[in-house]
Amino acid sequence: MDKLRINGGRPLYGSIPVSGAKNAALPLLAATLLAPGTYILHNVPNLRDTRTMLKLLQIMGAVWERDGSTVKVNTTTLTGAEAPYDLVKTMRASVLVLGPLLGRTGTARVSLPGGCAIGARPIDYHLLGFQALGVVSAMTGGYVEARVQSELTGGMICFDIPSVTATENVLMAAVKAKGTTVIQNAAKEPEVGNLIDMLEAMGARIEGKDSDCLTVHGVQELHPAEISIIPDRIEAGSYLIAAGAAGGSLEVTNCEPAHLAALIEKLRAAGMEMTVQGNRCTAFCPVDSQGIPCPLRAVNITTMPYPGFPTDLQAQFMALMTRSSGVSIIHETIFENRFMHVAELRRLGAEIAIDGGSAVVTGISRERLIGAPVMATDLRASASLVIAGLAASGTTEISRIYHLERGYENMAEKLRHVGAAIEQVPD
Ligand code: UD1
Repeated sequence: MDKLRINGGRPLYGSIPVSGAKNAALPLLAATLLAPGTYILHNVPNLRDTRTMLKLLQIMGAVWERDGSTVKVNTTTLTGAEAPYDLVKTMRASVLVLGPLLGRTGTARVSLPGGCAIGARPIDYHLLGFQALGVVSAMTGGYVEARVQSELTGGMICFDIPSVTATENVLMAAVKAKGTTVIQNAAKEPEVGNLIDMLEAMGARIEGKDSDCLTVHGVQELHPAEISIIPDRIEAGSYLIAAGAAGGSLEVTNCEPAHLAALIEKLRAAGMEMTVQGNRCTAFCPVDSQGIPCPLRAVNITTMPYPGFPTDLQAQFMALMTRSSGVSIIHETIFENRFMHVAELRRLGAEIAIDGGSAVVTGISRERLIGAPVMATDLRASASLVIAGLAASGTTEISRIYHLERGYENMAEKLRHVGAAIEQVPD
């Protein structure tokens, strides 16, 4: 297993192109199961998670090929409707095949995802949503077995909390249901919007895109489509934060700045200069003659569903706040156990206390942030360790980087290109 070695304390200058969004690519790939034929998806990032989803489609009989970032998927013949434990345990988003399989074949068997590093993460909303459409589900041998009882029929669903993948899963079944489905308190994340665009291109009828109430008028037939995956706002945001941590001037290209509004506002509040032009966004944080970035103001954040501050950028923002000149309170409201990175950041000298769902970060001077060996615990926690490693002086070695490979395309290469001293070495 490889690890990442970072020699920190170097400002970042240059431009990084953003890849397609992992969290959009996964539901859009799953949606190819809905109707037979050949789909063309552009801007698909080549990540461990997208490869896992393609493997899952293949197990079910799909045939696919990749040419650069374009993936062609043919789902004419389905030979199975089961997502096995071996794949689901590596990627809980595998549950996204439930909705399209129910929509196409009326039955699906998916291993129940277990807990994960960031919390219990149940799938009860998904199952309650399907139930409203006439699906019965049972748990046997660690698998959810779901079956359309007589006919998939439109229904009323109101989620307790707006869940991204539950909204997507229920949408993918509802587009084939007889009659109208209303999903209230639906997730408004741009990735849900990307899925709606694809479903509409396939012939689905959906009202309310980008709102928390979606109305789906079921259709009998859908057809394949060609679509582009939206830019990854979490990848873009991670690099903008890195520019603040290490200092310098970093532009991210091929991004959608409107999707980054909550982060850009917080980076400005911290004292960084942020400019937005078309699909480019630049973060500027001046450095002194020794390359030491100027101090940042402490800023509080509270993670919220979109358009609020994304939980997927909480760990990275915390790494940035370790070198602020005050006390920052970071309140996590989406996942109950998303502070796994705190213990690792402390190994670099960060002063962070946890108080229930909040982390209290007392900023320290950049000189006191010193590289150390650390361990990645989940995808976004890993990105926060990379950011802290870029800011710290000396060498930081991050082990278990397979977490990073799940969601960041060529991260080390992209960062090297803007001046970071980062390399992948055997552990
Ligand atoms: C998606 C993203 C993930 C992101 C998260 C929140 C994908 C593939 N993953 O995950 O990167 O961190 O949104 O923005 O898109 N919940 C339940 N029961 C359910 C479903 C969810 O209680 O059946 C709870 C969760 O535990 C959590 C909250 O709802 O507290 C929101 O989670 P959710 O939006 O479902 O996250 P995911 O869709 O799994």
